Amino acid sequence: MSDLATIRAEALSQVTAAADLGQLDAARVAVLGKKGTVTELMKTLGTLAPERRREFGAAVNALKGEIEAALDARRGALSGAALDARLAAERIDVTLPARPEAQGTLHPIGQVMDELAAIFGDMGFTWAEGPDIEDDWHNFTALNMPPDHPARQMQDTFYLPARADGTQMVLRTHTSPVQARTMLDPEVQRMLAGGGALRIIVPGRTFRIDNDATHTPMFHQVEGLVIDRTTHMGHLKGCLVDFCRAFFEVEDLPLRFRPSYFPFTEPSAEVDIGCSWKGGELKIGAGESWLEILGSGMVHPNVIANCGLDPTVYQGFAFGMGIDRIAMLKYGIPDLRAFFDADLRWLRHFGFSALDVPSLTGGLGR
Ligand code: DAH
Repeated sequence: MSDLATIRAEALSQVTAAADLGQLDAARVAVLGKKGTVTELMKTLGTLAPERRREFGAAVNALKGEIEAALDARRGALSGAALDARLAAERIDVTLPARPEAQGTLHPIGQVMDELAAIFGDMGFTWAEGPDIEDDWHNFTALNMPPDHPARQMQDTFYLPARADGTQMVLRTHTSPVQARTMLDPEVQRMLAGGGALRIIVPGRTFRIDNDATHTPMFHQVEGLVIDRTTHMGHLKGCLVDFCRAFFEVEDLPLRFRPSYFPFTEPSAEVDIGCSWKGGELKIGAGESWLEILGSGMVHPNVIANCGLDPTVYQGFAFGMGIDRIAMLKYGIPDLRAFFDADLRWLRHFGFSALDVPSLTGGLGR
């Protein structure tokens, strides 16, 4: 019996001493495993006389039960402790500032796109997109630029290798093809037929073979398109005046509408904003000079017809401008190429906080 008492004391102290689940399992094997101390005791039962066996067997079984209970209790305590340790280690300090104070800014192009969306969104425009790799028909033909049009020349346009049928896709040279894609959308046509109005802006990438301080092969434009049955040149003018004043945050910003030519509009106008160059520094607002910032016009009836709408019923206006250019003007960024250099110092200097979402009431470029 003294053997039993020693084994019991040893087993229980091993269980209590186990500092983690691994040590506890080692203790279990040492006692109850195939060659464990209690298991060995069990094996001796067969060699005992029957009365002795009954008595001793009951004691060994009781010991086994006691040790199993101790193992269970210790296991429970250790796994609770493991969970507590994990919770403590993975604790999140919810009082830490969520704002990325020292890193991560919004690129000025993204910022300006958000500003455009805020301003035109307030006027009822929605955001539309189209593919960067465009077919010839959407990029040119639909927009009243037939196959011999000079804008199609190799010097201006990135053409992809010819396909089996001889046609060539292009990197879109402007965002205007999305005008056609949107007007051709059956859902849009149903909406217009029901008396609704189409108002979209299309911010996105555009590509031309050009590379100097004010031109990069990839740049950004935003297209605008309004189509319904009554929109006229007065609406075009009011919309663009309101936009320019809101965007440049100059309430009495002077604007000049200059007659111009685009294949996809008639009549067409380019829009200039007033500025001054006093002391060699550009200031947007009243001044002696004008800066051209966008092209616009009433959508050409041929374009409306090419897009499956009746030009005697539907009319509207369109405009297009360079996002990079208006970003440079608004934020005093001198070199266009720096936009795409991915220089962290430049991005930290000209970047915007991602959490200051532009809005007309809250402020645009903060
Ligand atoms: N697509 C023209 C360009 O890239 C810009 C433009 C001018 C767009 C007049 C228009 C517009 O929608 O009406 O040069």
